[in-house]
Amino acid sequence: MTILQTGRYHEVHARSLRDPEGFWAEAAREIDWIEPAKQIFDPAVGTYGRWFSGAVVNTCYNALDRHVAGGRAGQVALLHDSTLTNTITKFTYAELLKEVQALAAVMQDFGVAKGDRVILYMPMVPEAVVAMLACARIGAVHSVVFGGFAAKELASRIDDAKPKLIFSASCGLEPGRIVQYKPLLDEAIRLAGAKPEACIILQRPQHGCELTAGRDHDWATLRRTALDAGKAAPCVPVLATDPLYILYTSGTTGVPKGVVRDNGGHLVALKWSMYNLYGVKPGEVWWCGSDIGWVVGHSYIVYGPLIHGATSIMYEGKPVGTPDAGAFWRVISEHRAVALFTAPTAFRAIKKEDPEGRLIRKYDLSSFRTLFLAGERADPPTVEWAEQQLKVPVIDHWWQTETGWCIAGNPVGLGMLPVKHGSPTVPMPGYQVDVVDEAAKPVPAGTMGSIVIKLPMPPACLPTLWQQDDRFKEAYLSEFPGYYKTSDAGYRDQDGYVWVMGRTDDIINVAGHRLSTGGMEEILASHPDVAECAVLGIKDNIKGEVPCGFLVLKAGVSKSPDDVEKEVVALVRDKLGPVAAFKLAITVARLPKTRSGKILRGTIKKIADGEPWTMPATIEDPKVLDEIGDALKGKV
Ligand code: COA
Ligand code: AMP
Repeated sequence: MTILQTGRYHEVHARSLRDPEGFWAEAAREIDWIEPAKQIFDPAVGTYGRWFSGAVVNTCYNALDRHVAGGRAGQVALLHDSTLTNTITKFTYAELLKEVQALAAVMQDFGVAKGDRVILYMPMVPEAVVAMLACARIGAVHSVVFGGFAAKELASRIDDAKPKLIFSASCGLEPGRIVQYKPLLDEAIRLAGAKPEACIILQRPQHGCELTAGRDHDWATLRRTALDAGKAAPCVPVLATDPLYILYTSGTTGVPKGVVRDNGGHLVALKWSMYNLYGVKPGEVWWCGSDIGWVVGHSYIVYGPLIHGATSIMYEGKPVGTPDAGAFWRVISEHRAVALFTAPTAFRAIKKEDPEGRLIRKYDLSSFRTLFLAGERADPPTVEWAEQQLKVPVIDHWWQTETGWCIAGNPVGLGMLPVKHGSPTVPMPGYQVDVVDEAAKPVPAGTMGSIVIKLPMPPACLPTLWQQDDRFKEAYLSEFPGYYKTSDAGYRDQDGYVWVMGRTDDIINVAGHRLSTGGMEEILASHPDVAECAVLGIKDNIKGEVPCGFLVLKAGVSKSPDDVEKEVVALVRDKLGPVAAFKLAITVARLPKTRSGKILRGTIKKIADGEPWTMPATIEDPKVLDEIGDALKGKV
């Protein structure tokens, strides 16, 4: 493999912008292609051009088969460590390939073919990775739905993706609680207009479920039968530009956006990132502590490490309470992980439980080289604490579901740049990151503005939204012509470092999970007693932000405000899911508005966060802000 020399960031990044095709053609040599690209970048196709146009490839082949053939058959590919079941399960590359070949054959028996969509609604079990790779093997397009989402959210994804098949499980495990998946799956299929032809259900020993006759099939039986019959589906060649997966993410409405990831660009960018950004070599043990339901899990539990030939740890558990705040250190030391990728919220939770880092010193962390943080802004106190305790570099890096990999980070493999706490450092190759004003004009260094990426974006970034080119163009490309809009605000400093300070839309980040307050408002507004509402993210010491809903009740409502508040909290959990962490609803007589009727969310947030605020000149009635302040007393 080409390992770029250290200390070369500026040269490498400049080259990637000067000669993008040359740069990515060279990176593409790390991938096994069935047919090479006819054009490295074709500007004439798609919404803004496509990478590796005309190339034929298979992602699963690059993640498994080539490593088995190339001497890694006996190396552990996937290491599942569950603190919730107290089990550790290891799959070598050869074993994982066998599982994937068999499941892919089962899928073909169900009639699943190239281009068909398959939904996974699964907990953090190795079978989920097997199913993702089996889809990739036969060219089916997977869409993983995070287990913390409720039936209605799953239903909207079923309706959009129209899957032929759904993989699910009897249950997921949360500390002290078994999450029954099957009733949620049944309800989602009932709600959805599009019905899958079949469901394959993994029965977990912690809680079984009844299978629906004629629709559901037992995973273990199908697997055993396929393995006994020696079934092994070969890799189906797909175009580099064919979709590998769809991953739904929150947009500014309750309707999620289906981010499309292609095969070729994704392979090339993820492979490049594993050493050059994360500093991990093939054969080393890498741990990404996310969930396969999020993009971070797709890219760095499943695809990145396997494409690279590393060992990937998949962890079922939490940073604290399973059993204690030493869980992460136990996993690193027991499996000799060289790097961990997690969200700052996990470190805030650990720091709260073990501020002196006593549990850290109980473990041998000599293998551990680097901590990577993403998913939300890494707040400087958390970064400083982690640096002091772990005595390794702590690297914040910024990315989005849409990009599939890092936009700005600190490239360990190229030679780290000095860390500035609060900044994810510098743009990765292929990303020209600009900060612009409302007229799409770049602003001077140090000036806040909208962060945008000059088109074309590098490989792996979304080419479009699933079957919605127009929505893609409208949501991302129209506001700043020639650019992709990240919807993040911030600035670049004199050294070119990127500072990402917050979203420009209604997205909030709760424990590293991306959620739409607009979507939550739609749910609150559906309550029969609610006349008006506003949801905004307020500061939380552990989760960064949590949603807080303000309600104005309809005239003549006989229920107490307390009862309505409890009902809307339950409603959000039921319709959106527990992951929203929506626990605070406050009834007020009126919402503060401008004279033109716009709710003053920014001012309410400042009051709730205890930050200084100024009376907006356009406010309709200044007294309402005092009422909000009074209503918040004792609640936040
Ligand atoms: N299935 C069902 N429910 C789920 C779930 C799943 N897969 N994942 C989370 N939930 C539930 C939780 O049980 C919790 O429910 P509760 O309200 O009944 O307690 C709720 O959703 C919120 O979960 P979570 O966000 O995990 O919060 P938590 O309070 O349980 O734990 C942290 C807090 C900080 C420990 C946890 O959020 C964490 O580890 N975050 C790190 C995330 C990360 O590493 N991301 C990777 C980078 S993107
Ligand atoms: P998601 O699509 O769920 O990965 O969320 C992406 C959003 O999370 C980004 O648009 C940012 O708002 C935020 N985010 C992710 N990583 C960072 C980071 N390192 N610094 C600041 N914000 C981040």
